[in-house]
Amino acid sequence: MFITFEGTEGSGKSSRIADAAAFLKKQGKDCILTREPGSTRIGAKIRAILLDPASRELDPMAELLLYMADRAHHIATVIRPALAEGKTVLCDRYSDATLAYQGYARGLDLAMLKNLHRLLMDDLKPDLTLLLDLPPETGLKRAWKQINSGQRTDAESRFEAEKIAFHEKVRAGYLEIARQEPERFRIIDASLSPEEVIEKINHTLSAFLFPLHKQEFSPS
Ligand code: TMP
Repeated sequence: MFITFEGTEGSGKSSRIADAAAFLKKQGKDCILTREPGSTRIGAKIRAILLDPASRELDPMAELLLYMADRAHHIATVIRPALAEGKTVLCDRYSDATLAYQGYARGLDLAMLKNLHRLLMDDLKPDLTLLLDLPPETGLKRAWKQINSGQRTDAESRFEAEKIAFHEKVRAGYLEIARQEPERFRIIDASLSPEEVIEKINHTLSAFLFPLHKQEFSPS
């Protein structure tokens, strides 16, 4: 089972996906937690280029190809092997991020992005995608608070430095993709308290992964 988490900056996605992995392990699922970009040794180098504020002049097409290079390597060396072993793969961002950021926000052609995914990634799609949604002003405030307090490194702040209009486009893009694929997407209101978000995520995962079980579980 391949499950992805998506969201705008400061949506709390990375903490919530770690909570979700802990919850699923507790439920007996053999799962791995991974992310894009940067889950592999080579991917970490690509991530450093992509998120470095000093890469501000990076051409949008070059940016796209770096995300895709990271993804091709990640699929080949992490995602496919884990799926082949029957593991549940939880991935922090994947191809919907490319559509939202490089497509809807940067303006690259959506059909071209989808074709490249089909051609280069064998169209590997998640079974389920949780979209942690919240207004960009709230998310960016949270993200900058973490960066300024040293909780997160400012060496990875290239996207946080984008204007609010860019982040509005990312959010609208994600919501549009979710509208087009309602069977795959679940939208989670990330403006709720962490406890409420965790509960909603656990409930969503349980309903998807254990549909025949009673929808009762011990909170993580
Ligand atoms: P993170 O903040 O979730 O670690 O994600 C890294 C940044 O990379 C985030 O700002 C979103 C961006 N991104 C893209 O622009 N395109 C992509 O395909 C992916 C995976 C991430």
